[in-house]
Amino acid sequence: MALDPALIRKSYPIYRHFAGTGETFIYLDNAATTQKPDSVIDAELAYYREFCANVHRSPHKLGEEATNCFELARASIAKFLNIDDPSQAIFTSSTTGSINIVANILAGQYLKPGDVILLTPSEHHSNLVPWQMAAARSGATLEFIDIFPDGTFDYDQVGRNWNPRTKVLAFQHASNVTGAIHDVETLSGLARHNGALSVIDGAQAVAHLPVDLNALDCDFYAFSGHKCVGPTGIGVLYGKRELLERFTPVFGGGEMILRVQRQSSTYNALPYKFEPGTPNIAGAIGLGAAVEYLMGLGMSEIASYVDALAEYACQRLSKVDRVTIAGPLTNRTGAISFNINGCHPHDIASILDHRGIAIRAGVHCAEPLMEALGVASTARASFYFYNTRDEVDQLVSALENTKEILGQ
Ligand SMILES: Cc1ncc(COP(=O)(O)O)c(C=O)c1O
Repeated sequence: MALDPALIRKSYPIYRHFAGTGETFIYLDNAATTQKPDSVIDAELAYYREFCANVHRSPHKLGEEATNCFELARASIAKFLNIDDPSQAIFTSSTTGSINIVANILAGQYLKPGDVILLTPSEHHSNLVPWQMAAARSGATLEFIDIFPDGTFDYDQVGRNWNPRTKVLAFQHASNVTGAIHDVETLSGLARHNGALSVIDGAQAVAHLPVDLNALDCDFYAFSGHKCVGPTGIGVLYGKRELLERFTPVFGGGEMILRVQRQSSTYNALPYKFEPGTPNIAGAIGLGAAVEYLMGLGMSEIASYVDALAEYACQRLSKVDRVTIAGPLTNRTGAISFNINGCHPHDIASILDHRGIAIRAGVHCAEPLMEALGVASTARASFYFYNTRDEVDQLVSALENTKEILGQ
């Protein structure tokens, strides 16, 4: 069934709040973080209000309830990503946290001097800087695949120019700048075929399209709760079981061990081996509620709604004189980066903000991509399923007005 944003907004406190104040509230910064529905906020609050206890250690009813809800959240996430075994979903702080864990593990236990870590110039800094650190630590080097001017990847070139020393292929499922959705199956297949591990940054993808990790068959996959209507400070790292079992954890502490002696310890089973200390219990429970909410709306329904809205927005924006869109017009998420010749993106964002329209401007934590696209920075409007065509129209008319204000 087609999604109805007017109905959807009724379960978002922030939309109720602005409906009450009467202020214009056009939130188009969803690639930075999404708004949260009642069910997510209620799930987090219920933990603090009704069954606040530590998980996996407290032998009382409250502890049991907290543990059950925490593990139910993990099971929901496994269903959401189509993972057979929930213990392959490790709770972390975020996409950034997840990628840092993998990069640290691989730097210390897998990469050798002269090995190659293959990346793309489109990566968010969180899927670049940890690999720079891993390269410095292990003696590996970084190489980058070619991208086309619209930010899509040149898949043929990756296969043709494959360096046999490549041991890791790390790339994003979708770009936070261009919105381009990349072909994880093809690229992770190439990595597997050539004996390399694939690490996918799913931060922008899980919110927008059905992600089936069984089908994608990648080695590691990372995402953040807050980009898909969940809380901040919680993320997930998925890993193939044999890899999670083979590698030892990079962080030690309580709960990740079975036995501790003075000189050494035996590590716990999955997923606890990679979850030292008290986890973000409320965040995990909130994330469980978030993915249940998304599955309730239907990920295919979300994808088709946002696809149609982004297509409409691209059409309308491309007709505005002096506007250029950085990114593909199809096979994209709702993140649309653009420039208006003669107007600085920060000026555009701040003028729009005065009209109640929230967009982002800058390099979007993707400096090498800006260079590859030949721009210093962009303005970015990013849409989600609670946005509407009317908001696109208001954005376009505010941009026309912005050009006048800036004398363009
Ligand atoms: C593609 C991509 N990767 C990684 C991240 C980092 O996410 P987080 O800050 O939640 O760790 C972001 C955030 O914008 C992103 O868009």
